[in-house]
Amino acid sequence: MDSQTQMKQIVADAAIREVESGMILGLGSGSTAALMIKRLADEIRLGKLQNISGVATSFQSEVLALELDIPLIDLASVSQIDLAIDGADEVDPVFQLIKGGGACHVREKLVASKADQLLIVVDETKLVQNLNQSFPLPVEVLPNAWKQVQEVISEMNGSSSLRMATKKAGPVVTDQGNLILDVLFDGGIKNPKDVEMTINNIPGVLENGLFVDLTDKVLVGKIEKNTPVVYSPSRVS
Ligand code: 5RP
Repeated sequence: MDSQTQMKQIVADAAIREVESGMILGLGSGSTAALMIKRLADEIRLGKLQNISGVATSFQSEVLALELDIPLIDLASVSQIDLAIDGADEVDPVFQLIKGGGACHVREKLVASKADQLLIVVDETKLVQNLNQSFPLPVEVLPNAWKQVQEVISEMNGSSSLRMATKKAGPVVTDQGNLILDVLFDGGIKNPKDVEMTINNIPGVLENGLFVDLTDKVLVGKIEKNTPVVYSPSRVS
């Protein structure tokens, strides 16, 4: 196992220790969340966790949970989620996030917003001082609006590119049937709250990957003296 996977595995394991029987759990997306879902399935199979219901944040997490026999309920049929566990692409010292590296941020944000607690699991490469210095902000747009949205973002000093698929010709198509613009702002994002709202106000935008004031706790995996360890940083106020 490479060192990044070791860091992801140790936070995935630590996240599952926060889960209690009877919980409705938001199941995040991405490679770290997938490791967490697999560990959750182990604990359910061993009878250590009972009466768990999962709410998927993507087609990826839905398929994985189905394969692993984790009971699922639909987002629309729950009024509240006890705990959502998800990965992130960037985490700043105030616990503001960029998500959407897997193009799943629309449902991820819906689940996070319905959760009493949002637990973010990352390896330490995801910790940044300022958002969007290197990782582009994913913006989900209606298919026939991408060019128009791109022009508005360019007027905001954002350079964007349409995310292209790898094993398919043409763009990535999201679980909702939309497209993704990946945006880098000149100088990064200094005020995530304003940027989140401004981008979501552009006609044709469904949602962007800024997660502002949603995170309750972050678990970070790192390698110390050749051994993976996990810690939970304090939020800088
Ligand atoms: C998907 C996400 C993921 O949580 C994020 O991209 C992190 O993924 P990984 O754990 O594979 O690094 O937001 O939309």
